[in-house]
Amino acid sequence: MRLFIDTANIEEIKAANDLGVIAGVTTNPSLIAREGRNFEEVVREICAIVDGPISAEVISTEAEGMLVEARQLAAIHPNIVIKIPMTGEGLKAVKVLAKEGIRTNVTLIFSASQALLAALAGATYVSPFVGRLDDISHDGIQLIADIAAIFDLHGLETEIIAASIRHPMHVVEAAKAGAHIATIPYGVLQQMLKHPLTDIGIQKFLADWQKVAGK
Ligand code: E4P
Repeated sequence: MRLFIDTANIEEIKAANDLGVIAGVTTNPSLIAREGRNFEEVVREICAIVDGPISAEVISTEAEGMLVEARQLAAIHPNIVIKIPMTGEGLKAVKVLAKEGIRTNVTLIFSASQALLAALAGATYVSPFVGRLDDISHDGIQLIADIAAIFDLHGLETEIIAASIRHPMHVVEAAKAGAHIATIPYGVLQQMLKHPLTDIGIQKFLADWQKVAGK
């Protein structure tokens, strides 16, 4: 199980990377827009911080346009992975990019059948959106388990990135369900770090030490 950081914010990416537990970064058009900066500039900065797969998403809806964007983005840095939406046009683009040796992350996956199609088209990664399914009373973690079972049974090498993660238990449950990666917002990474008993334990150790040290 690996962790990616799900943000385009440079300060968050630096802070997460400093912890030594982040293996990659995912962005999407909403996350990039939130930063209010030039897309390519942000992507270049991210590539200079994290040495791992960096997902950058196309905005075209036709395969031809996706391919033009994908080739431009892939030329920025060897770690760039092209995020492609899960549509028929997206699948066509994934097939061509796979032949060109350009890695893809098929995003907006909400069913096992979509994940299967993406894998058969040659996607490097699929991103099932756990939180957005839970938001509408579906079971996002069950989707991860279903995709993992299908990929495992049929020897499909596409890796599963659990996306749209809302809290630490999503990460734990996604890991148990067979996700290869969870991409997590910075806030969730902070929540994963914390436990009140850890803080209490540190205070007690220091207080006990002081009692002896003070003598
Ligand atoms: C990452 O690949 C996804 O774009 C992201 O996790 C979506 O998260 P959201 O549902 O919180 O917008």
